[in-house]
Amino acid sequence: MPRKIIIDCDPGHDDAMNLLLAFASPELEVLGITTTHGNVGLERTAHNALTIVELAGSTVPVFAGADRPLLRDLIHAEHVHGKSGLEGPILPQPTRTLEGQRAAEFIIETVLANPHQVTLVPTGPLTNLALAFRLEPKIIPLIPELIVMGGSTDFGNFSPAAEFNILCDPHAAHIVYSSGIPLVMFGLNVTHQVLATPPRVEQFRALHTRVGDVMVALLEFFKKSYETRYQFAGPALHDPCTVAYLLRPEIFELQAMHVEVELLPGPSFGRTVCDVWSVTGKTPNSRVAIKANADLFFEVLLERISRYP
Ligand code: BDR
Ligand code: CA
Repeated sequence: MPRKIIIDCDPGHDDAMNLLLAFASPELEVLGITTTHGNVGLERTAHNALTIVELAGSTVPVFAGADRPLLRDLIHAEHVHGKSGLEGPILPQPTRTLEGQRAAEFIIETVLANPHQVTLVPTGPLTNLALAFRLEPKIIPLIPELIVMGGSTDFGNFSPAAEFNILCDPHAAHIVYSSGIPLVMFGLNVTHQVLATPPRVEQFRALHTRVGDVMVALLEFFKKSYETRYQFAGPALHDPCTVAYLLRPEIFELQAMHVEVELLPGPSFGRTVCDVWSVTGKTPNSRVAIKANADLFFEVLLERISRYP
């Protein structure tokens, strides 16, 4: 039986690749896509999700969610993802429209209808999940697992200490990390090991398919900030680590640890403080990815993308 998931995202180049990976994977049943403020505004992330659903030939419903964080001011990452959030490829106009229900309501209804069966896969700020948990706390023990892209065991990318998704809404992240739901975390410490180097990009180009070409255009736009800021050999594929893990957990090495989100204003605001050496004695609330087999990751991604006509 395929594993039921809801992907909560802010597409976003790497979010889009994660959706394409999920839609090509029969091991997963994507019950819905929920979207949030994040890389760009909500209106754009929702539109972009519909665009990727269209490109994939999927009929998965898309729900718009929160257009702002719980408490802090709104931040975006247009300098990474461009004004549209998906700068680079020429994408189809969506023929489908957004569902009427809000993201948090869809999450609540779906979890209640499928107790202990729906894994949530957030790859953007965690506002929609936090709203759902506060609106209907009964869902918390009914969610088997959260597979989160966010945070880092070491450094940040939007502040020296904080990763973008967590910094966008640290209060929501606190609600999610302290929910008690088993959580697998893919932070920058591991996603920066998964780089789309030029030879890997060429493998997508060699597919000579529409989706293969979109992947190449996404990767080529996305690489710019990684070359200039980090001097990396290619862009880091943060968000696709989540679905790749669901497909092939052996790609990653995980370590159980306690993770807490820094909420005090100041230079560490939004940092995920990871108790790597168990110095607090607190019971681990997360399994944190610490190592990736990038070759295997790209083998899986390429094979799945090659399934599109
Ligand atoms: C995360 O921030 C966004 O820009 C990406 O889509 C990813 O989810 C990486 O920090
Ligand atoms: Ca994202």
